[in-house]
Amino acid sequence: MTTTGSAGARPAAAAGQSGAVMRTQDAPRPADGRAPARDPHRDTADAVRTQGLTKRFATGQVAVDGLDLHVPRGAVFGFLGPNGSGKTTTIRMLLGLVRPTAGTVHLLGAPMPDAAGRVLPRVGALVEGPAFHPYLSGRANLARVDAADATTDPRTRARRSDDALERVGLAAAADKRYRQYSLGMKQRLGLAAALLRPRDLLVLDEPTNGLDPQGTREVRHLVRELADGGATVLVSSHLLTEIEQVCTHVGIMGRGRLLLQGPRAELTARRGVHVVVRTTPRGAEPGLAELRRLGLTDARVDGRAPAPADEPTLVAGLPDGAPPPQDVAAALVRADVDLVAFEVRRPSLEELFVELTGEGFDVAR
Ligand SMILES: Nc1ncnc2c1ncn2[C@@H]1O[C@H](COP(=O)(O)OP(=O)(O)O)[C@@H](O)[C@H]1O
Ligand SMILES: [Mg+2]
Repeated sequence: MTTTGSAGARPAAAAGQSGAVMRTQDAPRPADGRAPARDPHRDTADAVRTQGLTKRFATGQVAVDGLDLHVPRGAVFGFLGPNGSGKTTTIRMLLGLVRPTAGTVHLLGAPMPDAAGRVLPRVGALVEGPAFHPYLSGRANLARVDAADATTDPRTRARRSDDALERVGLAAAADKRYRQYSLGMKQRLGLAAALLRPRDLLVLDEPTNGLDPQGTREVRHLVRELADGGATVLVSSHLLTEIEQVCTHVGIMGRGRLLLQGPRAELTARRGVHVVVRTTPRGAEPGLAELRRLGLTDARVDGRAPAPADEPTLVAGLPDGAPPPQDVAAALVRADVDLVAFEVRRPSLEELFVELTGEGFDVAR
């Protein structure tokens, strides 16, 4: 697990030392006294924005393919997709840890990796990969990470480390060596490192990996708390249900492509709304006819519905422009179709994902 967030901790693709990077920020004014050209993305609402972001590895594999990611400020953005769909590669490109083959990244309005030196101190990150010293305690490891950040005050280092350990529930194990930590404890230490100082943006790659259900709940709680404090959180997972509840926005990855993104409620409301009508044997045919007449799509008898054989279940899609559900129900009654039950169903995110990709999410870690 690697933690980023301090200017000096992870120069990787930042093309040079932080000193050199800082100079971009403090660029001298042009000789004619005009203000320096403004960064066109500085005022955009997105905390993370990519355009055409692509990574082709030396193997020829395109792990990330033309991503246009928009993470609005203040959002809890669930970056979802099965294993191997390109989430980690994307996140590593966002943070300047991997160089994109094509495309651009803006973090908090500034271009990456050029602005890494001034942007990364405002970004806390948890990404898989080695970073901690196995023979040092969790507390000592955090102090090292903190010390690598040239912008922090050494006098308050101990308190920052202890606060972060407390926050992730690791205070009791603070003096244990890292190599004796369980996977869950290692994960928590990575989170603690991301939280060493207040951040505007947190990028957490599979933060619930290795955690038990209680730990997973705590991470969800922490994510919510960070968002309540005003931070934008981008959190990835291959286990949809683990973070679905805390997300205001989601992006769904499948085989290197972003299949869908937007406010969570809108995504499930807009797509695939169905009406489900339980009727009697004599109601099935006229019921289907009426649903079709009203403009509902793909009206059919649902053979898999768990209903008694003498209560056939009809399903039909309710597209934009079709009458509202209450009018559909009323029309069925007027058409003398027996209504045993009537229901409107919006797909869950999981159903949406399966519909989009034909793949399911992993059911276990
Ligand atoms: N360094 C690398 N070299 C070659 N292929 C890689 C490398 N890193 C990741 N991949 C491949 O890219 C794809 C996406 O991987 P990754 O971004 O880790 O997905 P996820 O995080 O969604 O599980 C996978 O097929 C993976 O095998
Ligand atoms: Mg991953």
